[in-house]
Amino acid sequence: MTRHDEIRASYRKLGNSADFYDGIITRSTLIGKLVDSIVWGLNRELAAKWVNDALSPVPEDFAGKLLEVPVGTGVLTMPLYRTLSNASVTCLDYSADMMENARKRAEEMKLNNVSFVQGDVGALPFANESFDLVLSLNGFHAFPDKDAAFRETFRVLKSGGIFCGCFYIAGEFRRTDRFVRRVYEPKSFFTPPFETKESLTARLRAMYADVNVSSVRAEGIFSCRK
Ligand SMILES: C[S@@+](CC[C@H](N)C(=O)[O-])C[C@H]1O[C@@H](n2cnc3c(N)ncnc32)[C@H](O)[C@@H]1O
Repeated sequence: MTRHDEIRASYRKLGNSADFYDGIITRSTLIGKLVDSIVWGLNRELAAKWVNDALSPVPEDFAGKLLEVPVGTGVLTMPLYRTLSNASVTCLDYSADMMENARKRAEEMKLNNVSFVQGDVGALPFANESFDLVLSLNGFHAFPDKDAAFRETFRVLKSGGIFCGCFYIAGEFRRTDRFVRRVYEPKSFFTPPFETKESLTARLRAMYADVNVSSVRAEGIFSCRK
């Protein structure tokens, strides 16, 4: 099994139990609250903060072309897209099972500004400079080829466009680092090598302008402009 296959298999299972995944990511279930608190050291305020900080670079009146990669089940972003009725949103993930949940959610919410494409972030099926904004939530710690992912998200972004999002960074919160090493990595939900706040800042500064990197515990949050 290749690294890609292992990751796909892990997220296939998660996609089939989307309620479980969504409960954790939104802290809306008991197990979600426990994971947030025990693994990530987050209380309600901090959990709301990382989501808000990661989404805040998307302008309230955004009306251009937005790429979200990876969309997963779309639990964090479909409510945002409901408010961006003049934007054209493309969502990509390589797990059909995770993305099917996002598609259903968009249908239920009657979003007609959102479309879905199955694919690999390391070989995005879009022309150069296709998007005004690329949003990536909790993806880069999972992607097997991080260099390719950074290269491709840069390639498809228009000059002047915004690249923003969040993902796990190492070295900020020791308890999370231990869980990642002992649980998330062996299960192929997370794939090393992991960025630190310093390495992410340096990597983005080498490619982008207006780089901003912050963290809420082990959740690294970034925004920059091409
Ligand atoms: C932790 S989930 C994050 C989903 C969503 N953005 C969120 O925050 O809830 C990680 C996602 O990355 C996807 N993924 C992993 N490797 C990928 C790749 N090479 N290309 C596209 N998606 C990938 C997985 O299928 C999974 O849906």
